[in-house]
Amino acid sequence: MTTYKIAVIGGTGPQGRGLAYRFATSGHTVVIGSRSDERARDMAADIARRSGEHALVSGADNTTAARSADVVILAVPYQGHAELVASLADQLAGKVLISCVNPLGFDKRGPYGLDIADGSAAEEAQRLAPEAKVAGAFHHLSAVNLWSGAEFLDHEDVLVCGDDEHAKTVAAALSCAVTGRDGIDAGALRAARHLEPLTATLISINKRYKTRSGIHIVGLERD
Ligand SMILES: NC(=O)c1ccc[n+]([C@@H]2O[C@H](COP(=O)([O-])OP(=O)(O)OC[C@H]3O[C@@H](n4cnc5c(N)ncnc54)[C@H](OP(=O)(O)O)[C@@H]3O)[C@@H](O)[C@H]2O)c1
Repeated sequence: MTTYKIAVIGGTGPQGRGLAYRFATSGHTVVIGSRSDERARDMAADIARRSGEHALVSGADNTTAARSADVVILAVPYQGHAELVASLADQLAGKVLISCVNPLGFDKRGPYGLDIADGSAAEEAQRLAPEAKVAGAFHHLSAVNLWSGAEFLDHEDVLVCGDDEHAKTVAAALSCAVTGRDGIDAGALRAARHLEPLTATLISINKRYKTRSGIHIVGLERD
């Protein structure tokens, strides 16, 4: 297995923390990124305690974290996303950037996908960090499930999209840390226009059925 040095921007939040925990448990080196290096170090210590004695987890401000890594995960709210990505464009140049950002709104009728000028958050990130190799992945995993334990979420699939084959391959391989198998290639980066708002449907199902729903694709031959 190829191991990566992975910066998780927004790694102090539930989704970034959960992904970081899974990556660290699988032998990747993880750097938690935050606007506050103190918050990042505190979260890194929590994740390291939970991930076992061999886990390699540290914390740093977002810029330092992104600069130090081969692969960068964006796990921040859509609000503030553009400013953050633009501020990290230099550090992201040439790197694989994987976005799990879901631009969602909520009103009386429930969750819905926001209209995004670039089509999706992932495409916005590609515009703002043009030299990054952007993929979308991990949009449909529950943060609670990610953090709940080390067992693979092998009843779920990770859908990956992107225009850069290397970025898609890395995102698909990192999915093994979560589900125990490669992520599924779901198409070009513009597929993020469908994958990101699909999360609104999962949240509606969760509310209605009091569950944590996920995605599982049928019709594929599996190992
Ligand atoms: N929660 C889930 O179950 C889930 C599932 C799938 C996908 N996602 C997606 O994953 C992303 C993160 O979700 P989350 O629930 O972990 O989010 P969150 O807790 O709201 O935010 C994550 C972290 O982002 C940083 N942050 C917040 N506002 C920011 C801003 N304006 N600029 C820069 N950094 C900011 C904060 O870290 P610092 O204050 O330490 O910088 C925060 O701890 C979202 O786009 C969400 O749609 C979430």
